[in-house]
Amino acid sequence: MILLVVVVLLALVLFMALRRKVESVRSFQPSQPGPDGKKPITVGFFHPYCNAGGGGERVLWCAIRALQTRYPHIQCVVYSGDTEATGNDIIEKAKQRFNITLPRPVEFVFLKNRFLVEAKTYPFLTLLGQSLGSMLLGMEALFKYVPDVYIDTMGYAFTLPLFRFLAKCRVGCYVHYPTISTDMLSRVADRTASYNNQGFIARNPVLSKLKLLYYKAFAFIYGLMGARSDVVMVNSSWTFGHINDIWGSSTNPSIVYPPCDTKEFTSLQIIPDEEKSIKVIASVAQFRPEKDHTLQVKSFSALMKKLSQEEKMKIRLELIGSCRNVGDESRVADLRALSSSLGVADHVDFLLNIPFEDLKSHLAGATIGLHSMWNEHFGIGVVECMAAGNIIVAHNSGGPKMDIVVPYQDQQTGFLADSEEGYADTMMKILQMTSDERMKIRLAARSSVERFSEKEFEKTFLAASEKLFD
Ligand SMILES: *[C@@H]1O[C@H](CO)[C@@H](O)[C@H](O)[C@H]1NC(C)=O
Ligand SMILES: *[C@@H]1O[C@H](CO)[C@@H](O)[C@H](O)[C@H]1NC(C)=O
Repeated sequence: MILLVVVVLLALVLFMALRRKVESVRSFQPSQPGPDGKKPITVGFFHPYCNAGGGGERVLWCAIRALQTRYPHIQCVVYSGDTEATGNDIIEKAKQRFNITLPRPVEFVFLKNRFLVEAKTYPFLTLLGQSLGSMLLGMEALFKYVPDVYIDTMGYAFTLPLFRFLAKCRVGCYVHYPTISTDMLSRVADRTASYNNQGFIARNPVLSKLKLLYYKAFAFIYGLMGARSDVVMVNSSWTFGHINDIWGSSTNPSIVYPPCDTKEFTSLQIIPDEEKSIKVIASVAQFRPEKDHTLQVKSFSALMKKLSQEEKMKIRLELIGSCRNVGDESRVADLRALSSSLGVADHVDFLLNIPFEDLKSHLAGATIGLHSMWNEHFGIGVVECMAAGNIIVAHNSGGPKMDIVVPYQDQQTGFLADSEEGYADTMMKILQMTSDERMKIRLAARSSVERFSEKEFEKTFLAASEKLFD
């Protein structure tokens, strides 16, 4: 009892001391008046890997551009851990990589202790280690610069309460991926071995119990931290589901799809089927096991069985994908063997590691796009096929089902299937349509990917984050 009181008192003293320190950092910050002569609202973006050039960084720069364009009186600051690059390098890379030019300058605050959030720093209890590490990194950020509004764009939920309670910021976050998901909890509970559940733990009931307890406790704390956010944005329905479960529905997450770069595909000309002597079914996916190319080859063979000899000659399956290691290569060999044994090898082309320009011309020439991964979180490949004007047949689960292959302006945008027969029947149906019927779907599919454009991202991001700035 006494111990508890002592601990609470100590925590209180620590909290007050930190708060004082943060106040003093704030009071020494220079503040230049904005263009309207008033003190600007400062917005801090926590993105320790802001120079990585991936999809998460596209979100960051698009968000900053949208805010700068919309609000003349805000000033954006990025907390970066990329100490080897200067602010100018980072801005330049965003321009080169994403064609994003910011209307106004951005300040950078460089953090020295990024190793604190790296998985390799914590051989054990990695989730907890990284999360507590992110709090320390967040403290470094706060001691260097205190913003008025704080936005975490990399999923470091444990930093949210720091900025909210120590610095009294309004806080928001954009979540690409939950730190812990209900799927991970159930894998441990069912004792299934996987990348985050090693075999020796899955086999041992006591260790499994302990790990489940740890995960549950972690998920609970993660939820408490996340729920401190005034505005929660998530990148897809899949992420929405997990955040809603773990953080609670009162956090009211908004789905803000990240901007996908589909211009390269939407600018391709759609070739009407009459002009093609051969109809191509194209699949674009890395040769990884979860992509389930086997299902594609089997479905294709089931389709071929439904066709006459003459019709068969006019159909090809193109498996386009990168093949990065021996695992991928052996899967390709297995797929070749499978298509031979099913008697369709003469109609299947493997296009491995082809250049982007060739990929585009193959997609432009295709009629049907094929996707078969179960429970894919999103499915950028599906979006690209649709942008290219293919009629997609995607797996009836995950992102394709929830976010992508859904009616758009009351028009059908593609098809979903989940079994060999289902895929074969659907492809048959598509082949039997008139060219006009197909064209209608192809055009609808192409316009529907507007939902994943930069313009749409900016609109939904500004709407969701509005209450941070009023
Ligand atoms: C880059 O962005 C500008 C302005 O937003 C646009 O006009 C131009 O077409 C874009 N360039 C490419 C290669 O997408
Ligand atoms: C959301 O982010 C995760 C993790 O980066 C990614 O796997 C998923 O494809 C993203 N969803 C969308 C809609 O881009």
